Amino acid sequence: MRHLIDIMNLSVNEIDEMIAVAKDIIANPGEYSEKCKGKKLATLFFEPSTRTRLSFEAAMYELGGNVIGFSEAQSSSAAKGESVADTIKTVGAYADIIAMRHPKEGAPVVASYKSDVPVINAGDGGHNHPTQTLTDLLTISREKNRLDNMTVGLCGDLKFGRTVHSLITAMSRFEKVKFVLISPDELRIPEYLKQEVLVKNNIEYVETTDLEAAMPELDILYMTRVQRERFFNEQDYMRLKDSYILTPEKLENAKTDLSILHPLPRVNEISVAVDDDPRARYFQQVKNGKYIRMALILKLLAESQA
Ligand code: CP
Repeated sequence: MRHLIDIMNLSVNEIDEMIAVAKDIIANPGEYSEKCKGKKLATLFFEPSTRTRLSFEAAMYELGGNVIGFSEAQSSSAAKGESVADTIKTVGAYADIIAMRHPKEGAPVVASYKSDVPVINAGDGGHNHPTQTLTDLLTISREKNRLDNMTVGLCGDLKFGRTVHSLITAMSRFEKVKFVLISPDELRIPEYLKQEVLVKNNIEYVETTDLEAAMPELDILYMTRVQRERFFNEQDYMRLKDSYILTPEKLENAKTDLSILHPLPRVNEISVAVDDDPRARYFQQVKNGKYIRMALILKLLAESQA
């Protein structure tokens, strides 16, 4: 049974193939409208979501399939103490594929061990968010027509931001990608990621607190929200939450073909005044999320039937 728990579950070739399928879906949506007829996706969201859950659901509907599920733990039997393992075995009796978000890191991998149908990690705690990474890669590929030879700035909460962890891991596999890691000292990327991904693979990177100084060399600027829900105390969150606020003035020295991305939701870290800048691509990124999830559902269902 094929699952997607970590972006490393997919080879670079498979990522390239899925991006090609997503681009074909964008060009020829009618050809895909019945591909999942008779199939059901279950969306099990133990943690809040707007984009990930709704884009999965829209993806399945646009493939001609149906959707079941819940959007909060309190409306499932988890509220009565049911384990993730029992929930997954139950849902596997009703659905052909499962997308699951959980606040506990590792919950989706535990679910995958018990599941009779493909499990997709739709975000686990501060750990991973592989389908956001697929969304980001499709977006970068559409914006730049490549996934190699570029300087990627990641800015904000690099400690708890699971989308950052998955994106660094994924982009480290493409040639000549340099990372500029922009964060307050307290919110730097975790040491394990630095050692096991960047250092081990000889990836060029710098760490800095200065967004404006880094700006001129960036091809991609990936802004992130400070993850309030992962902080141990409110005081630290309040002190750090507005560390970076991207404004039109801060973009004055940026490249003319910079792409500004953000996994969203945004709080304060990008001024709404930036939304009108043609380099702001985060709402296009939202759209891309549906297409790449369509490609993923098709791939995992095809492999589970093989
Ligand atoms: N990017 C993302 O995961 O958004 P949601 O939390 O709204 O799903």
